Amino acid sequence: MENRSIYPIFDSMEPRSAKERLLAQRGVTLWFTGLSGSGKSTVAIALERYLSSRHRLCRILDGDNVRCGINSDLGFSEHDRRENIRRIAEVCKLFTSTGIITLAAFVSPTRELRRMAADIIGRDDFVEIYVSTPIEECERRDVKGLYAKARRGEIADFTGVSAPFEVPENPDIVIDTTHAGVDECVQRIMRHLATRIAPASEKD
Ligand code: ADX
Repeated sequence: MENRSIYPIFDSMEPRSAKERLLAQRGVTLWFTGLSGSGKSTVAIALERYLSSRHRLCRILDGDNVRCGINSDLGFSEHDRRENIRRIAEVCKLFTSTGIITLAAFVSPTRELRRMAADIIGRDDFVEIYVSTPIEECERRDVKGLYAKARRGEIADFTGVSAPFEVPENPDIVIDTTHAGVDECVQRIMRHLATRIAPASEKD
């Protein structure tokens, strides 16, 4: 939205390349999408631990955390989910352009929402990871007890039960945590990521 009383100073700030040199890594957003309980946050936490042990700086953004803070005013209507993802994508863009490996774990249930996130963050900085664990397994785990509540009609618009989840059309990585262990998922993602996060000099 154009605002003639706002004068951004992006040009005079230190560029992304300087941040990335400082950190000896390149920024990227790994966007985990999937049902509640599919394993998005569990894999993101394990990946963060793995990357940190290799001196890579990460930041996790997760639905339940973000919804306690910056997005505490939002619920699960179509409008609120859109605003949730819009704000998160703007935050991811800030982290990514600071050279940080940003792990975003959000249900983000529709293609349109994920497309918006990719557009805000920038296609080149957006890696889509579909955590494809089927609803039967998510519901069997029901770690937070939310599926049981949703089935009893105590939670409206619950993704997979009373609100839709659209399977990603062309994800960069697909992981199903039903059978694959967390470490295996981390290694799968790392195979994709290794050259992507290395600083320019290490890739030559
Ligand atoms: S999103 O759809 O807007 O991307 P987000 O990832 O932020 O969702 O939040 C999802 C988390 O909120 C779930 O993991 C679950 O713990 C909780 N939750 C509460 N109500 C709902 C609901 N109606 N649909 C989905 N998740 C819900």
